[in-house]
Amino acid sequence: MTHHAQHRASHDHHREEGLAQLLDLDATMSGDSWAEAVAWGTRFVRDSPERILDLGAGTGTGALALARRFPAAEVVAVDRSAVMLERVQAAAREQGLDGRVQVVPADLDAAWPAVGAVDLVWASSFLHEVADPAALLGDVRASLRPGGLLVVVELDGLPRFLPEDLGIGRAGLESRCHRALADAGWNAHPDWRPLLEETGFEVRGPHTVSTAAHQDPAATAHYAQTWLSHLRPALQDRVEAADLGTLDHLLAPDHPEALLRRADLLLRVDRTVWAARRP
Ligand SMILES: C[S@@+](CC[C@H](N)C(=O)[O-])C[C@H]1O[C@@H](n2cnc3c(N)ncnc32)[C@H](O)[C@@H]1O
Repeated sequence: MTHHAQHRASHDHHREEGLAQLLDLDATMSGDSWAEAVAWGTRFVRDSPERILDLGAGTGTGALALARRFPAAEVVAVDRSAVMLERVQAAAREQGLDGRVQVVPADLDAAWPAVGAVDLVWASSFLHEVADPAALLGDVRASLRPGGLLVVVELDGLPRFLPEDLGIGRAGLESRCHRALADAGWNAHPDWRPLLEETGFEVRGPHTVSTAAHQDPAATAHYAQTWLSHLRPALQDRVEAADLGTLDHLLAPDHPEALLRRADLLLRVDRTVWAARRP
């Protein structure tokens, strides 16, 4: 490997570790809405599924929830990131599910992996990331047995934590940051229903699930700190200097208004779920 390639690989590894940490925080903090998304999506499953596929599985929150929900099923978690798949394997071992959860490294933009026929496909916060969603949905349809189900989940918007008025800086900081990131294409996705129907699926939904209001303030502050630190580099040239200054105060643990010292944070995140059956 050249020095440049080595540097790039280490940067990617670091970025994926950061994302993995956020995905696990999301799973813990949004546990109720994850459970509701799984419950709503899987109520359209007809028979007990034998094989389940989790596409863009990340750290495996969906794959493991489905393995618990369907104790007779074998679950295949697909992701292009080795960092993510190692976490899926470790979590499956910890939960005693490693006999039924298999990982498959694959870049789904490049080719559909040889996973065989499946009964249920789960794709959470993933479909908007692929280069050609129409082609991917065609592959999903072809891999599903007749009557099989695809469940697609997306975040309606980026997770929100901050009150409108922080007591420092101009009110509305979080909305301005999210608008800047939306303009940069973050979490951009349509209502998937028309494309699912064009691909030949029978669609239920969209159905929205929201995070519950009861939260541990220290855990919320820790998640807010991790999440906003993750956003900070992308905001560098996209919001006004004054907003960057406020953000840096929030992120500095010693600042009197620091996120880690605040009691006025509340995680708000909505998810949309679509259930699509192959006739
Ligand atoms: C935002 S995360 C969502 C993870 C998980 N499904 C969840 O909801 O917590 C997106 C995941 O998709 C994976 N991914 C993105 N593009 C991919 C591709 N073309 N092929 C395989 N995996 C991909 C990323 O590595 C990442 O783990």
